[in-house]
Amino acid sequence: MGDFTFGFEIFEDDSNIDTSSNVKDHRGPDDITLRPAKEIYIPYETRNEERRVVCVSCGDVNLCYLHPQDVEGMIEEKSDIKEAITTHSDLLPSVYEGGLKVWECSLDLVQYLQDLDPISFSGQTILELGCGAGLPGIYTLMKGATVHFQDYNEEVLELLTIPNVQLNTIPEVYKEKCHFLAGDWSLVQDLLMQEGTGIFSLVLLFLISCMCITCSRYDVILTSETIYSLDSQPRLYNIIRSLLKPNGKVFLAAKTHYFGVGGGTRQFEDFVREKGEFEIESIKVISQGVRREILEMRFIQPENKGAKT
Ligand SMILES: C[S@@+](CC[C@H](N)C(=O)[O-])C[C@H]1O[C@@H](n2cnc3c(N)ncnc32)[C@H](O)[C@@H]1O
Repeated sequence: MGDFTFGFEIFEDDSNIDTSSNVKDHRGPDDITLRPAKEIYIPYETRNEERRVVCVSCGDVNLCYLHPQDVEGMIEEKSDIKEAITTHSDLLPSVYEGGLKVWECSLDLVQYLQDLDPISFSGQTILELGCGAGLPGIYTLMKGATVHFQDYNEEVLELLTIPNVQLNTIPEVYKEKCHFLAGDWSLVQDLLMQEGTGIFSLVLLFLISCMCITCSRYDVILTSETIYSLDSQPRLYNIIRSLLKPNGKVFLAAKTHYFGVGGGTRQFEDFVREKGEFEIESIKVISQGVRREILEMRFIQPENKGAKT
């Protein structure tokens, strides 16, 4: 067992978990195009390369995921995220946003979700934003939720998130209950909120709703290690406020400070409170190692508007 604690039993070494709070920021040119939004489909045939699997025990379930190093090795030479991998960067802003690693707050979030049991996720519709390996979303999927996974990079969804979902659930579950969306938050938000007028749009809406991708409103939004960049926080905030049900909840796991890039839980709380639309509170602090937190957000209900949050 590795020395990673917080109630997890690590069956293999934990050297694959990224514990840094010092995100290396290799900022790209300002005119970089944000990744467009698109749905990524589960392939008919699974790839059969030799891949190591890491498993963590979480309450009554084992969560398994592909070893991040093996997945990095599968990125094609022509992919622009290859540069980030070969230079050992955690991320290249607006090109690659770090989804191929398992960041430690995602395990904190799984642990927190487990603590929430026996409240069941069964029947809930959940969105995991910036999912990377997707462990929190997969946990809720295993507990009966319908889960939509979003990541900036389609390679992450294809090579890591989808295989991880397949490792942990049976085809009957993931084919019926999962969707995978790649792209920048602002563009994924547009895709999920697309509405039009006229008969063509109605037919389109009917077809889209048959695919069940635009349930458009989620009971729960999960997100881990996604508030490090001050530039992209407004886009994260907007997608949350557009897609969360009025009574929905957000569970956001993050470090208290991301040194060198400016984001962090206190700063994000201030940013959210200033908008006056959400209540936000820190509901768990993990102080072993780098200090991390779980934040919960809910819409301020109309009767409480104006009251201090
Ligand atoms: C540091 S990784 C964290 C991955 C995973 N949640 C974890 O904790 O292991 C940040 C994630 O946020 C997502 N992300 C960052 N900026 C984004 C943006 N502007 N639009 C969409 N996704 C973004 C990326 O998809 C990436 O997977």
